[in-house]
Amino acid sequence: MSGQQHWDDVDDYFISTLSPDDEALRAALRDSDAAGLPAIAVTAAQGKFLQLLAQLQGARNILEIGTLGGYSTIWLARALPEDGRLISLEYSAKHAEVAVRNIARAGLDRIAEVRVGPALESLPKLADENPAPFDLVFIDADKVNNPHYVEWALRLTRAGSVIVLDNVVRGGRVADAGNTEPDVVGTRAALELIANHPRLTGTALQTVGSKGYDGFALARVLG
Ligand SMILES: C[S@@+](CC[C@H](N)C(=O)[O-])C[C@H]1O[C@@H](n2cnc3c(N)ncnc32)[C@H](O)[C@@H]1O
Repeated sequence: MSGQQHWDDVDDYFISTLSPDDEALRAALRDSDAAGLPAIAVTAAQGKFLQLLAQLQGARNILEIGTLGGYSTIWLARALPEDGRLISLEYSAKHAEVAVRNIARAGLDRIAEVRVGPALESLPKLADENPAPFDLVFIDADKVNNPHYVEWALRLTRAGSVIVLDNVVRGGRVADAGNTEPDVVGTRAALELIANHPRLTGTALQTVGSKGYDGFALARVLG
């Protein structure tokens, strides 16, 4: 046994042991699939990891960029207190519609709100509302705009906030300085921003699992 089959089996074991999903999460994936959304949500293990990060942060306010069917939204929103708030930005009206239904079925509609439109248009509007600083930002949308999303995350957070940037490995192409694919260029620019910005410190980890070879970056906002 090697490669993907091995990773699937270990993920199945980890998920069934440590982060089993429940009916609301399963239904979110089922309905996303039935509506034709791509199967690119985080895994249950990754969702639980995000939830734990938010809990470790004592998060009260979370910003998500890239909702899809609301699967990661549900994991994250469950980390929040009853008066907590999660805002998730989604380009596609169809994805947002599915997500809103999934979030409501999970009983989280008073905590989690989905805003439709290109995130780079939604973010300035959100900033105009002077929201309380977000304690955690999960960036999981169009990778070409990753550096812009990190910049916006910096504007909307506080010292001690955490920024998670998903899917940074790009099949290993992230290490190729000559690669001109927009997702790779955007991801490299975001990582270099984290490396060089005086108010950010971060790292990136490669992962394997049922979604294949992947990885994420984690950054902390400094004072
Ligand atoms: C990888 S999926 C998000 C998965 C979700 N976070 C989860 O794990 O359940 C990326 C989502 O970002 C959305 N997206 C793409 N470009 C966007 C943009 N410019 N602004 C906002 N959302 C965007 C896509 O429509 C898609 O639903």
